[in-house]
Parts: sequence; structure tokens; C-alpha cells
Amino acid sequence: MNHFDYRDGALFCEDVPLEEIANAVGTPVYVYSSATLERHYRVFKDAFAPADPLVAYAVKANGNIAVIATLAKLGAGADTVSAGEIQRALAAGVPPERIIFSGVGKTEAELAYAISVGVHQINVESIAELDMIERVTALHGQRAAIAIRINPDVGAGGHDKISTGKSGAKFGVSVADALALHARASKMTLVDAKGFAVHIGSQIKDLGPLENAFRVMRKLAEDARAQGLPVKRLDLGGGLGVPYFNEPEPPSPSAYAAMVKRVFDGFDIALSFEPGRLIAANAGVLVSRVIRQQARPANRILVVDAAMNDLIRPAMYEAFHDIKPLRRGGDERVVMDVVGPVCETGDTFTRARDLPPLDAGDLVAFMTAGAYGAVMASTYNARALVPEVLVRGDRYEVVRRRWKVSEQLELEKLPEW
Ligand code: LLP
Repeated sequence: MNHFDYRDGALFCEDVPLEEIANAVGTPVYVYSSATLERHYRVFKDAFAPADPLVAYAVKANGNIAVIATLAKLGAGADTVSAGEIQRALAAGVPPERIIFSGVGKTEAELAYAISVGVHQINVESIAELDMIERVTALHGQRAAIAIRINPDVGAGGHDKISTGKSGAKFGVSVADALALHARASKMTLVDAKGFAVHIGSQIKDLGPLENAFRVMRKLAEDARAQGLPVKRLDLGGGLGVPYFNEPEPPSPSAYAAMVKRVFDGFDIALSFEPGRLIAANAGVLVSRVIRQQARPANRILVVDAAMNDLIRPAMYEAFHDIKPLRRGGDERVVMDVVGPVCETGDTFTRARDLPPLDAGDLVAFMTAGAYGAVMASTYNARALVPEVLVRGDRYEVVRRRWKVSEQLELEKLPEW
């Protein structure tokens, strides 16, 4: 469900024609719908009612402060993976007591920052990290609430590069080690050992592996309690997939919530979740203008002004993004490759796609680009960093302006020699 629809043949975001934004702001440009962001958050949250879990939006999916603020106003927390993301969440109005700090490589400075602002929970991924946290709490005389992230040896996700729960992956500790770490943390003076965390992958389209991982979590919490160790919280991570195209629909938030309720039936525990893609993906599109069409003996190539530096998912994960024209024409279809201007073959959004006839100057939208789109953008090939626009009803605002190449040059200097 999203708020990008055709009205009289023109593609709108809520009540704003995308063409109006493209003409005013220029292309390429990311456009987000407030209504879709809000709807996705509410659907997820309501699926768990009357329980009231902490829904910590995974800022890595879309870290624009206007996007985070839209969700924070509804009560969302933030799942963060760097001091920078904590700063973003705070700037967007997320209270520290709703911020989770995850990630395998938190530095001492980042941990000190997180502890000083009083985040809700730090998800600990190793014994070395736990000991570093103890040192930081002692050094600054501040308390830290933590959860031990387990690696349940359950793989899942839409691509190898985004599957995190297998034992060979860099994330978390084994179930046995998690119990030992929790016991160790429970003895630390300024560390509050709250429980356990898990996250097994992203773009997960099957509830089976998630259910297996959650059963491991329940058993672990029961075992810890049986040993007299308090367990107050379980963080069940993110990962629920979204539909990118006409494939079987991924499980709905209500099916997911029903599974969670089944697994934790009768178990008194505070739950938290870290959804990212589910909230942001269908709330955003990347609008791009066709530069030219090239007919080759073997194929027809559409060169657009967006490139892999603006949306890297097709190049990096062989991801599929639906491509829609901003002005809908007739039923005629042409088979085309769609590529960007960057100088490598990897800068190909799609091959042999059935598209309406498109030519120089036409506008297209790469759909479902609200998650892991702008956040993964770079300035490769000295391209200006892509701007972002947020729509609410019939209004829109540029919430990140285009970052000019001249501004990038200001960061560099010629050496003295
Ligand atoms: N929590 C943790 C600890 C994570 O590592 C992630 C995602 C999430 C939550 C949010 O997962 P989500 O609900 O969005 O699936 N760049 C890739 C996706 C990387 C996901 C990394 N971790 C892509 O474009 O597909």
C-alpha cells in the first residue's frame, strides 16, 4: 500500500504531481510520501495491540531527519548503528529512551556518546564489546542498559549480502555464549543486563526462519531465568520484506504479529522491533529524466540521469525496481535496458524490461526506493548528491537540497608541494 497513483494519466505522490517536483527541484530526486510512512508505522504498531512494543525504526533504511521526525511524532523509536545515526535520531526528535544502538563495530567514542545521551539499549555483539562498555561506564560513572545479540544460526533474507543470522556471519554470539555474556553483564556494577537481541536478515519473505529464531530467543530467556538471571526485554530485530514487483506478497504485519504472539504466548517480556524497509521502501521513489535512447543491433538502451551512485540496489543486490513513466500513455510496450551515465557496466538498472515508449526528456519513477536508496547514495563520478523531497497532502518540501559539486570541491585542497 502506498500513495503513488495515477490521476488522469499523471503519476502523483499524494496530491502532488511528481512532474511538478521534477521540474521545480530537478532530477534525479527522491520523493517520499508522509502518508505512506505514517500508514506503515501504524499498521505495524497496531498489529501488536493491545501489547505496546517499542517499534524502533531502523534509521539505516532512510536517515533523512524529516523522515525520522514523521515517524517520531507517532511515537516511533530509532534503531541506530553509528554515533551519526544517534545524532540524526536525536535531531529528529526521537527521545533517547527510545533509541537502540546496534552494530558490530561500535568504537569506544561511539559507546561513550551513546551512554552519555542515555540510549534505551545497546545491543552487544561480543565479549570484547561488553568489556569495553563496562570500562566506559566506569570511566564516566554512567549506567548503560544492554542486550546481548545472538546469532541463532538461522539464515534468511532476499540476498546473501543481507542475510545476517547464519553462524559464519559477523553478527552476534552463539546461544551458549549469549547466556554466559548475560551472566557476566549481570554482575557489572553500572551495566543493566536487560536481555537479548536478534536480527537474521532483510527482505525476508517467509515467516519460518523468523519463527525459528524467535523460538530460540524464548528458550534462551527461559534458560536465563531458570538460572536466576533476570530477563526483561527481547529485541526481535527487523527484516520483514516488502513487495518490489508482481511476486508473491511477503507476509503481512498482522501475520507476522500473530506468529510473534504465538511464540511468546503466556511469556511476560517487553518486546521491541527494528523495522526499516517495511516502513520506508514503498514510501519513496527516485524520479529521473531520460537523457536519450540508443538503438543497438541487439538491444535498445534507455539512458536516464539517475545512476548507480543514486540507487545502488540493482548493481549491488541484483534488486528489481519497478519503473513507471510519470505520464501514462497507451498499451504499447518496448523492450529496453535502462542504464545510468556512470562509467561501468554495473550501472544498469535493468535489462530487457517491457516499458512504454520513452524518449529524451521523459520522466520515470523508480518505485519502492524509499529504503536503502538515498542513504546509500555516493558522489561517484563526481556526481552531485541526490536531493530528497517530502510530500504531505498537497504540499512538498525539499528536505535535503542537492549537494553541489562545488561544495564537494571545498572539502579538498591541493597540497603545498
Ligand atoms: N536491525 C538490524 C540489526 C539490521 O541490521 C537491519 C538491517 C535492520 C534492523 C533493518 O532491517 P529491515 O527491516 O530494513 O529489513 N542495503 C540492503 C539492506 C541492508 C539491511 C541491513 N540491516 C538493501 O538495500 O537491501
